[in-house]
Amino acid sequence: MEISIKTQEEIEKMRVAGRLATDVLNMIKPYVKVGVTTGELNNLCHDYIVNVQQAIPAPLNYKNFPKSICTSVNYQVCHGVPGKKKLKEGDIVNIDITVIKDGYHGDTSQMFMLGKTSIRAERLVKTAYECLWIGIHQVKPGNYLSDIGKAIQKHARSNKYSVVEEYCGHGIGKNFHELPQILHYYSPKAKDAVIEPGMTFTIEPMINAGKRGIKVLPDKWTVVTKDHNLSAQWEHTILVTETGFEVLTLHDQNDIFYPDN
Ligand code: MF3
Ligand code: CO
Ligand code: CO
Repeated sequence: MEISIKTQEEIEKMRVAGRLATDVLNMIKPYVKVGVTTGELNNLCHDYIVNVQQAIPAPLNYKNFPKSICTSVNYQVCHGVPGKKKLKEGDIVNIDITVIKDGYHGDTSQMFMLGKTSIRAERLVKTAYECLWIGIHQVKPGNYLSDIGKAIQKHARSNKYSVVEEYCGHGIGKNFHELPQILHYYSPKAKDAVIEPGMTFTIEPMINAGKRGIKVLPDKWTVVTKDHNLSAQWEHTILVTETGFEVLTLHDQNDIFYPDN
């Protein structure tokens, strides 16, 4: 498999899918409150995607994933399986939405903070957000894919955080996960490529407050930090344009965030 360069028609479909994924996050926002269960959030998103958007929740049955969204709370890194867990005051939770519309995928996630959160948690969530955007700003034709991870890792380290290496961003389109892999750290051994217009991929750094080590729970999906310190993640789906990037999971390109360093 090669890295696919999307046609104008495909790009239009990716824009639609990206917008729908973002709409789900905006829809669910008012429900993310102390006392709600992650299973209830899953059901609300599922019904909205299927009935209102007439789209498909990509996670459901993907490699046997049992639910329609991922919800990763506190020391859960990613791929948290929604269930009976009630969100409580001070929790931080990542909600990760992927929809398929007209055969194309849109993938985005964000952190929510429940009630009054600790300064420690807030600083982690903020830094993870900056890491995502610092990575996005590396996206332009002629740069290397590795520039993305290099910049993210530098920012995480300068804040004394670590970057998870086992999971990465990914090409996206007809497939949920396709080439290229987008590492959020630098590895001289990793396959690198020049960034080209028409590529579509996600950037989704997982930033840990403690060490980078992770393990997968017996449910075979939920990824947690080994040291049980907090983890935070944000994700966007990106199109490479002739001059830079378009964030397909933003409604308005005026919402581009410029970290100030
Ligand atoms: N949405 C995740 C990503 O960003 C993938 C979730 S796979 C699932 O790539 F099966 F857990 F849904
Ligand atoms: Co993704
Ligand atoms: Co995702």
